[in-house]
Amino acid sequence: MTRKLHAIILAAGQGTRMKSALPKVLHPVGGKPMLAHVLDTAAAAGIDAAHLVLGHAAGRVQDWLNQREGKTPKTVLQGQQLGTAHAVLQAMPEVPDTALVIVLYGDVPLISPATLDALIKAADKGLALVTVTLDQPRGYGRILRDGAGRVMAIVEENDATPEQRQIREVNTGLMAAPARRLRRWLSHVGSSNAKGEFYLTDVVGLAARDGVEIRTVSAASADEVEGVNDPVQLARAERSFQRQQVERLQREGLYLADPSRFDLRGSLKIGRDVQVDVGCVFEGTVELEDEVRIGPYCILRDVRIAAGTRVDAHSVLDGAEVGRDCIIGPFARLRPGALLGNGVHIGNFVEIKKTTIGDGSKANHLAYVGDAVVGERVNIGAGVITCNYDGANKHATIIGDDAFIGTDSQLIAPITIGRGAYIAAGSTIAKDVPEDALTINRAREQRSFPGWKRPKKR
Ligand code: UD1
Ligand code: CA
Repeated sequence: MTRKLHAIILAAGQGTRMKSALPKVLHPVGGKPMLAHVLDTAAAAGIDAAHLVLGHAAGRVQDWLNQREGKTPKTVLQGQQLGTAHAVLQAMPEVPDTALVIVLYGDVPLISPATLDALIKAADKGLALVTVTLDQPRGYGRILRDGAGRVMAIVEENDATPEQRQIREVNTGLMAAPARRLRRWLSHVGSSNAKGEFYLTDVVGLAARDGVEIRTVSAASADEVEGVNDPVQLARAERSFQRQQVERLQREGLYLADPSRFDLRGSLKIGRDVQVDVGCVFEGTVELEDEVRIGPYCILRDVRIAAGTRVDAHSVLDGAEVGRDCIIGPFARLRPGALLGNGVHIGNFVEIKKTTIGDGSKANHLAYVGDAVVGERVNIGAGVITCNYDGANKHATIIGDDAFIGTDSQLIAPITIGRGAYIAAGSTIAKDVPEDALTINRAREQRSFPGWKRPKKR
C-alpha cells in the first residue's frame, strides 16, 4: 500500500514579535529562508505534495516561491487567522482522502528528516505527534495521558489547570494523520476555549474518543522543534543549525580552530586536512581540496580552491577559482571571474576581477587587475592598475608570459603587453608593448633644483 504523503505547512501568522518588514518565514537560518528549510526537509522525507497556508504578507512569500528553484508547493490563503485547525482546513480540499497528512510549520525550521520519517511511520496505525519534554514547558500545549500512558488529549497553556501545567511533555505542533479521519475530526473542532480559536490540538481528544491509536515520537532535541517567534529565537536557531553542520563537517575531517567561530551559509565540500582558522564566513558553494588552509577572518563565497593553497587573514574571495599551491592574502580580494592558475601569489590590497592569471604569476601588493588575461610567471608590481573602464565600456588587458610590469604603472585598456616585456616603474602605457623590450613612458625626465627653498609659513 503506497499512501501519498501530503504536507500542510502553516505560515499564515503575522510574526509580530519579529518586528521586521520581512515575512517571518523568509528570515534566513544558515543563509536560507526558514521556509526553504522546511520545504527541503519535507522533500528529503519523501513528501509527495506540499500545501502552504499563507495569510499575512502572502504576496511577498508567494513572490519568493515564484523565483525559487525546485518544486513549488501549492498555496492556499487563510484570510483570517482563526487558529491552527482552521489553517489546516484551508488546505484539506486539495488533499485526497487516501493521503497521510503531515502538519509542519514555516517557523519551525530545524525539524530533521529523521524525526519526520519517524512521525510518518508512527502514523501507520492512526494519529502521531512529535512531543518533547521540557524543563520550562510554559506556553506550550501539554500532553495528557491516561494511567496506561495512552495519549488522551492536548490542553493549551491558557486552558490548562494548575496540575496540568505541571506536565512537562509538550506538543511541538508536528502531527500526522490519515486525511479522511483528519477531515472528520476537523469538522468537529470548535472555538470555545480561552483564545476563541479553532485549535488543531483538539483533534487529538477527538481521535482518542474514536479509540484511534495515538503514538508519539520524541524529538531528538528541543532545538529541533523550537519555533522562531522573535530575533532571540532566530539567533538561537542559527547557532544550533551552525553547530549541527559544523559537527558533520568536523566528522568529515575539517579542522576548525574554533567551531563556534565559523559560519557556513551554503554548502562546503572538503578534501583531506583542510584547516580553517577563526572568524570565517563561507557562503554559497565552497569547495576546498586537500591541505587548503584558510587564515582568520576570511570570507569565501562560491569559491573553488585547489590542493595546497593558502589563504591568509582577512581575504575576501567571491566567485573565484584558485589553482594549486597559491598564496592569497592577507587582505586580498578576488572578485567574480578571478581564475588563478597554480603557484600564483596575490598579496595585500590586490583586487582581481574577471581575470585569468597563469601559473607562477605574482601581484604581491596594492594592485587592481580587471578584465585581463595574464600569462605565466608575470610579475605585477605594487600600485599597478589596469585602466579597464572608460566611463562607458570595459576593455581588456592582455599580458604575455614572463612580462614584468614595474611598480605604479597604469595599463590603459584595450592593450596588449608582449611576452617578456619589461615596463619601467611609473609608466602610463596606452599603446601595445612589444615582446622582450624595455618600455618606459614617464611625463618628463626627472630634474632636480639644487638650492631650492621650501615656501615658508606666513
Ligand atoms: C501551537 C499548539 C501548541 C504547541 C505549540 C508549539 C495549537 C492550538 N497549539 O500553539 O499545542 O505546543 O504550537 O509551538 O495548535 N497559524 C496559522 N494560522 C492560524 C494560526 C496559526 O497559519 O490561524 C500558524 C502560525 O503562523 C504559527 C503556527 O501556526 O506558525 C502556530 O500557531 P500559534 O498561534 O503560534 O500556536 P501556539 O499558540 O504557539
Ligand atoms: Ca507559536
